[in-house]
Amino acid sequence: MNILLTGGTGFIGEALIPALQERGHNVSVLTRQLAPKSRADVEYVQELQDLGPCIDAVINLAGASLADKRWNDAYKQKMVASRVELTRTLGEYFRRVESPPTVWLNASAIGYYGARDDQELDESASSGAGFAAELCRDWEAAATDAAGDARLCILRLGVVLDAGGGAYPQMAQPFRFGVANWIGDGRQWLSWVHREDVVSAFCFALDRADLSGPINVTAPEPVTSRDFCTAMRKVHRTLLAIPMPAFLMRAMVGEMADELLITGQRVQPAKLLAEGFEFTLPRLASALERIERPAS
Ligand SMILES: NC(=O)c1ccc[n+]([C@@H]2O[C@H](COP(=O)([O-])OP(=O)(O)OC[C@H]3O[C@@H](n4cnc5c(N)ncnc54)[C@H](OP(=O)(O)O)[C@@H]3O)[C@@H](O)[C@H]2O)c1
Repeated sequence: MNILLTGGTGFIGEALIPALQERGHNVSVLTRQLAPKSRADVEYVQELQDLGPCIDAVINLAGASLADKRWNDAYKQKMVASRVELTRTLGEYFRRVESPPTVWLNASAIGYYGARDDQELDESASSGAGFAAELCRDWEAAATDAAGDARLCILRLGVVLDAGGGAYPQMAQPFRFGVANWIGDGRQWLSWVHREDVVSAFCFALDRADLSGPINVTAPEPVTSRDFCTAMRKVHRTLLAIPMPAFLMRAMVGEMADELLITGQRVQPAKLLAEGFEFTLPRLASALERIERPAS
């Protein structure tokens, strides 16, 4: 297949490219960068008009990070525009071409469900309140419109863990200094997934012509913030445990703290499991071992 990948220079996209190539696909990456760190046999384009004539599948990941900056109005606008407007632009472009893509895989996030307590959430759960939930809803709606007649899968990603990107390096920092911490009361749920399984889930959704709609991409073992802390202590061998009070977190990162750190969601990958997807790293302890001691 000829695949257009947006966000192909990012944390997930970088890992997805070799997996797609191994399966024999040709990958074109749409990027804002004039000189991206390029990979062999990947075509990098800054304009959709520069793409070849036939794109069979779109994998749409691009978007300004939710964790990089404080959420002021200008940055919120950027987080929305970089996803929703880009997705609309893709849709407008592919409506005009002779042979539009037949498959569309769009990223979204479990933030779709908003802040939830202990309730287990599968793909049929309702969306929640807050900026992140609204952003996910708007992005998913834009993708539904843009995909047209293509088979659309919306992959609602949990917190993707691996070295070298995403949230993990920041989460691990205090542990590296010998201090363990959970956030707030530590009872909020953290639905995580290792990057390897995210890559496999995208490939699974691409291959399985009978799959469509929302798909939760989280490990089958969500944990509380406290449980995450306990698992991290085992791999980092920390002695000291100091919880991070919610008010301090709010003071440090603002509104983002309430939506991403002090609250959470207990998500189940119900559809993936029902469809026979096998997680390589379903347990947190082994996922953390893989990140910290990749050769072992
Ligand atoms: N990582 C996670 O834990 C996680 C969890 C849930 C959902 N997601 C979603 O999954 C997608 C991929 O995640 P990721 O961790 O790989 O993200 P990432 O490393 O931040 O990469 C995102 C890519 O989006 C493009 N981008 C960034 N800012 C942009 C802007 N202002 N306008 C247009 N494009 C922009 C960049 O590509 P260029 O520089 O090449 O243009 C970048 O490589 C994101 O949309 C993210 O929200 C990720």
